[in-house]
Amino acid sequence: MAQVLKYPDIISLAAGFVDNTTLPIDSWAEATQAVLSDQKLLRRSLQYDSTSGSAALRDTLIHWSYGGDSVGRPSADQVIVGAGSNQLLHLLAETLLNPGDIVLAAAPTYFVFMGTLAAMGARVVSVKADADGMCMDDLQATLDRLVAAGHAHKVKFIYLVTDFDNPSSSMLSLARRQRLLEIVERWRIQHGPMLIFSDNAYQHLRFSGQPIDPLMTMSAESSDYVVDFGTFSKSYSPGVRVGWCVAPSQIVAYVLGLKSSIDFGSPHFSQVVMNHVLTSGAWHKHQPQLLANYKSKLDSMLSALDRFASQIPGVTWRKPNGGLYVWLTLPEHIDAGEEGPLWQAATDRGVIYVPGHYCFAAEGQPVQRNTLRLSFGVLPECQIADAIERLSGAISSVCAG
Ligand SMILES: Cc1ncc(COP(=O)(O)O)c(C=O)c1O
Repeated sequence: MAQVLKYPDIISLAAGFVDNTTLPIDSWAEATQAVLSDQKLLRRSLQYDSTSGSAALRDTLIHWSYGGDSVGRPSADQVIVGAGSNQLLHLLAETLLNPGDIVLAAAPTYFVFMGTLAAMGARVVSVKADADGMCMDDLQATLDRLVAAGHAHKVKFIYLVTDFDNPSSSMLSLARRQRLLEIVERWRIQHGPMLIFSDNAYQHLRFSGQPIDPLMTMSAESSDYVVDFGTFSKSYSPGVRVGWCVAPSQIVAYVLGLKSSIDFGSPHFSQVVMNHVLTSGAWHKHQPQLLANYKSKLDSMLSALDRFASQIPGVTWRKPNGGLYVWLTLPEHIDAGEEGPLWQAATDRGVIYVPGHYCFAAEGQPVQRNTLRLSFGVLPECQIADAIERLSGAISSVCAG
């Protein structure tokens, strides 16, 4: 933010916003109009609703997320609607954690939630990850170490951004999902409750490849210990502030107790309009243009990287099938943080990015300071090649020096 204010012409590869041009202006206007012209529904939507959120939306979300009759399909009573999924990540963590409790997360992972966990006094321990998401051998080894150190009772949950994660756009593979469930089920028998927080914020931003089943419905028992988090922020609009979580029944009441002491429920009107967007088919209608826009911008970023960065020794990047980010790795000795040489060289050339070190926990895996998160969500497509050319110039100059 400070850099953008200091250099107003700077091109930002940092902001994780969605593209302004894809915001569903007509779709939202039509849905709002439909609610406004239904007096009974309008009157209801302008009243308080339950803390867990609109019953109609919660019902719709269960069918929309998990299909007709999939294996461990949860019930609408397990859904809590919030003002975005960040709010629910916060509430669930606050419900479950005491200071000193341990959360396992991928290295790298979503830095905003790590900040939330740190503010609650939790210890975040990172686990090795690659393009297929968290590595299960390392997860098992990390858990074994925590048991050996006498800390098993402090381990509360594993946090994963399962599909096209923020920051690296990795996708947790089917084999790893199955192994994860086995590890957690064994842990729960040997050491007591542990949950999986499955953050699906980018699940619907898939441009290619096949979808993989959500953890929640992969086994008959998984809905007892998986908490699914969803949001319309990426696939529709962040401004409507509608997110949700689906949690095991035994913890829903505690979360609602905490939520009701904060807000008596999230904005009802938004939920009613969003339900109309889903049930009228407007969400589905919006998807093709949204995905085409982001896919085209991702392709532009990848071809610009091929063109401008592929000759720089030791520079690599992942090619994701979805999401909003490209994860770039520099030679090990180059520090991409704000105190390092690349940051200065990049801002001198008028481009900024998110230094990857923010996305690593202090414990567990080493912090990779030679990494960058590049966002293609918010930049107009015509600026992407220019941004990558400037960034590649900065990287070349630092590598050469
Ligand atoms: C991984 C991840 N989870 C959750 C969120 C929160 O989204 P919201 O609160 O808008 O639903 C974000 C937003 O960028 C995100 O990247």
